[in-house]
Formats: sequence, structure tokens, C-alpha cells
Amino acid sequence: MGVSYLKILVTGSTGQLGSALLNQLKDSGYKVKLTSRRKPDGIGHFEWIYSDLSSSEGVEEAVKDADVILHAATSPIKNSKSVEVSGFKELLKKAQHVKHFIYPSIVGIDEIPFNYYKLKLEAEELLKKSSIPHTIVRATQFHHFIDNLFLSKPFLKRYIVPGKFKCQSVDAGEFADHLIGLVDKEPQGRAEDFGGPDVMTLSEMAELKIKLNNEPNKVLSLSLTGKLYKSFSDGKNTNPARKMGEITFGEYLSKKIDC
Ligand SMILES: NC(=O)c1ccc[n+]([C@@H]2O[C@H](COP(=O)([O-])OP(=O)(O)OC[C@H]3O[C@@H](n4cnc5c(N)ncnc54)[C@H](OP(=O)(O)O)[C@@H]3O)[C@@H](O)[C@H]2O)c1
Repeated sequence: MGVSYLKILVTGSTGQLGSALLNQLKDSGYKVKLTSRRKPDGIGHFEWIYSDLSSSEGVEEAVKDADVILHAATSPIKNSKSVEVSGFKELLKKAQHVKHFIYPSIVGIDEIPFNYYKLKLEAEELLKKSSIPHTIVRATQFHHFIDNLFLSKPFLKRYIVPGKFKCQSVDAGEFADHLIGLVDKEPQGRAEDFGGPDVMTLSEMAELKIKLNNEPNKVLSLSLTGKLYKSFSDGKNTNPARKMGEITFGEYLSKKIDC
């Protein structure tokens, strides 16, 4: 149960992580304000405010009375530089009064040559250089993200995947719980990573999905070249020493079948 005098602002409240935060905060004692461009469903008694990080519209209003910010807004593809870096800079300017800024980041962003990850790294640096008390926690990819990106659309009964990619996917709800648990703690600067329970290749994940869902599909594993492929195949996006989440990819898939 949270301490009710703290007001938490959740940015990106319609996203995977944001909606998990929203659901879990419903049972807490915190005052909660949500922000995103679309209004999330089922916000109960929480306040929601429109804001757009790429234009900074509504950001001041969203941030002004927040004690803690859980920053789950992100835009990996569209306007990514303006959301992750310039919009983030504006957000920080307006958040000077905040007691704790919690920034979810991604394991391996300093080792994987991917533009979005470079922007996340820039954002981490901006936060570190700011005078705002903060905690940066890097997580591994979410189960839902991997499933959606690679395993949602078989083509001619084949999951065509870069099969050697390693993943240590984690449940977004467990990560949300972890972040909420940090709210009352002292800001930690860069905190320990939060990884999922198993390291698997994408081929293994696809095979597991086929088996659990009893699908007629097969896996077609692509071998790619280049630094990006190598860094994911080397597992730079994993941290086997930090298996913090308990819900496995198989359990995530089984729960989806039951729904
Ligand atoms: N996905 C993963 O596997 C993963 C793994 C580790 C860490 N993370 C980190 O966790 C955080 C959340 O990721 P996620 O996967 O939950 O993201 P997501 O599902 O893509 O959600 C992104 C959120 O940001 C909002 N947003 C997008 N553009 C915006 C803009 N211009 N202004 C304001 N809000 C905007 C979206 O809402 P509207 O469109 O309604 O504005 C949405 O609520 C990110 O920092 C990400 O790097 C993700």
C-alpha cells in the first residue's frame, strides 16, 4: 500500500508498461495522474491529462503537481528523436520540483547499435546530468513485445525470424510492480537491471508458441549479418545474472490461450 500524500504521474498511460502501471496503481494508496495523447480505458477515479511530448503541449500541466514521475511514454519509430530526447529535455525542465523521476530503460542500449537505443541512452545521460533525484532501471524486452513483433503473423505457415536472436523476455506487469516498489525508496541513480526468468533464442520461443497453441506453423530461421544482428545473437540485450521476473514466456502464452 502506497503513501497517499505522494502524487504519481504516469506518462505513456496507454502503452504496455503504462497500462500495467495504471492497473496496479488502482490498488495502491497513491494519488495518480495519467498522461498520454489518447485517453486510456478504465481509469477509475484517476485524473487524466492530454500531453504530447513531441510538441510539449500539455506537459507543464501534467507535471506541475507531481511528486513522482513514472515515465512510460516512448515512441520507438515515429518522431522518436523528439519524444525520447528533445521532448524529454522539455519534460525534465518542467519537472525540477519532482522528488523522484523513475525512468524505465532497456538492457544493452549502450552495446547495441540501434537508433532508438542511442536515443534512450541520450535520455539516460540527460537525466543523470539533471539535478532531479532519479532512478534508471533497464529491463529486458517484454513478452508481449516479442510476441507481437516476431510471432504474431506467420507467413505461409512459417514464423520467419532471426532465429539466433537471444531474448530474456519479462512480464510487463512484473516490471510495473518493480517500478511502483521504487516510488517510496531513495532515488538510486542507475539501479540494477530487471530481466526475465529465461534466456531463449527466438527460434526456441517460436517453437514453444507452436507447441503450446498446437499450431500447424513451422519456424524459418533467418541468418543475418551485421553488427545489430550480432549484438542480439550475442545476447547483449540480456542479463542472465538478473533473472528477476518469474512469469516465463510459456506462462505468458498459456495465459493468453486461456483468455
Ligand atoms: N517494450 C519493451 O519490450 C520494453 C522493454 C524494456 C523497457 N521498455 C521501456 O518501457 C517504456 C514503455 O515502453 P512500452 O513498450 O510500454 O511502450 P508502448 O507500449 O509503445 O507505449 C508508449 C506510450 O507512449 C505514449 N506516447 C507515444 N508518443 C507520445 C507522444 N508524442 N507524447 C506523449 N506520449 C506518447 C503512447 O500513448 P499515446 O499514443 O496515447 O500518446 C503510449 O502510452 C519505454 O521507456 C521503453 O523503452 C520497453
